[in-house]
Amino acid sequence: MTIEISRGITEATRNEMRELAARYPNPRSALLPMLHVVQSAQDEVTTEGIAACAEILEITQAEVTAVATFYTMYKFSPVGKHHIGVCINTMCGLLGGDAVYEKVAERLGATHNGPSADGNFWLERIECQAACTHAPVMTVDWEFMDDVTPESAVGVIDALAAGEEVWSTRGPKIRDFQATEHTLGMASDELATEGNSVDAKMLAGLMVAKGSNNS
Ligand code: FES
Repeated sequence: MTIEISRGITEATRNEMRELAARYPNPRSALLPMLHVVQSAQDEVTTEGIAACAEILEITQAEVTAVATFYTMYKFSPVGKHHIGVCINTMCGLLGGDAVYEKVAERLGATHNGPSADGNFWLERIECQAACTHAPVMTVDWEFMDDVTPESAVGVIDALAAGEEVWSTRGPKIRDFQATEHTLGMASDELATEGNSVDAKMLAGLMVAKGSNNS
């Protein structure tokens, strides 16, 4: 089943982009969140989205493109319903991240930085997410799935593909890529801080350090 994605830079989207531009003394400082808003509307960065950014910020389309192509979080093909990231940096790689990536790639029929065979997912090998405490980690629409195995990672994708409700191991419910992009751009929907940001395992080193300071 292919999931239909809504697209188009509407006047409402343009108003959000104008709101972002007005938050900064120099409006062009708003370009990064504006590009997230473009992705929230279009599931990718399109030429229409680039033109809208350029018009609102009164800069050239070439300047917008130069920024958008520099950062890997911006995509120039439709991402689909969910973005899947698998960390393969040192800690995750040592603890099984490479095996997780291989199984997930096989399940999706995707290669690095590309769509799944059905177009509903986007797969990306990602670098360290500062979540090494729970390595190996996978992200779904940038929400963490901690301590994954090849089997549990594929299980998450199977559940998403079946339309089941899926929750990050840190609390937030998985929505979809476009909804996450809206949170990243506007940071005003009161969801940016949903879920746990720290747990006992993450604080273990700090506790040890505090203990040794007290002795
Ligand atoms: S190496 Fe994977 S989160 Fe740090």
